[in-house]
Amino acid sequence: MARPRSDEDAPAGQLSRNTAAYHWGKRSTFSPEDFCLDLAVLLDGRVIGCQGVAAKHFPVTRTGETGSWLGREFQGRGIGTAMRRAMCALLFDHLGFEEITSAAFLDNPASLAVSRKVGYQPTGISRIKRREGELALNQGLVLTPDDFVRGDVAVEVTGAAPVRSFLGLDAA
Ligand SMILES: CC(C)(COP(=O)(O)OP(=O)(O)OC[C@H]1O[C@@H](n2cnc3c(N)ncnc32)[C@H](O)[C@@H]1OP(=O)(O)O)[C@@H](O)C(=O)NCCC(=O)NCCS
Repeated sequence: MARPRSDEDAPAGQLSRNTAAYHWGKRSTFSPEDFCLDLAVLLDGRVIGCQGVAAKHFPVTRTGETGSWLGREFQGRGIGTAMRRAMCALLFDHLGFEEITSAAFLDNPASLAVSRKVGYQPTGISRIKRREGELALNQGLVLTPDDFVRGDVAVEVTGAAPVRSFLGLDAA
């Protein structure tokens, strides 16, 4: 999934503007044929991260790729697993997804651990140019409803109906 430039790459002070510009752009071009549904992750009323899914030709493919980030101070507390489970429940139970994919670099154990705990299965490994002159190995992952490990936290969904309509799911 395309992401705004990370805080390691962006010059100081530009990260917030890059992030906002990324979301403005994605919102303005949202269509059933090509969309990123990026949902805010809130803790005690404060935005601490983002859990998204990107899809192309969704009415036919019924698949999309999840991607996420959390502020550093909020990582490693189980929030990343909870937000991915919530997103997968939304996609499978309310938005008509039949498959969900993800991908993570092999040197990103936290992301790979979240995928494993949620039930994603490994597919192939791609060779990707991560930064100038740097090769990185990217693990592909796929989740089906049968493999989905929901965990023991109940997920309550509100506001799905307008999104279904926007995706053309309820068209006559
Ligand atoms: C990926 C991310 C969203 C995960 O969220 P999180 O809240 O940190 O994840 P959780 O706390 O729910 O789970 C992390 C798991 O990774 C494991 N983990 C973390 N670092 C690890 C390491 N170095 N080696 C092995 N396992 C590791 C943890 O043990 C935990 O598994 P456990 O609960 O079985 O012990 C978050 O770390 C993040 O935003 N990272 C930076 C952005 C990013 O990489 N996004 C994904 C791009 S594909």
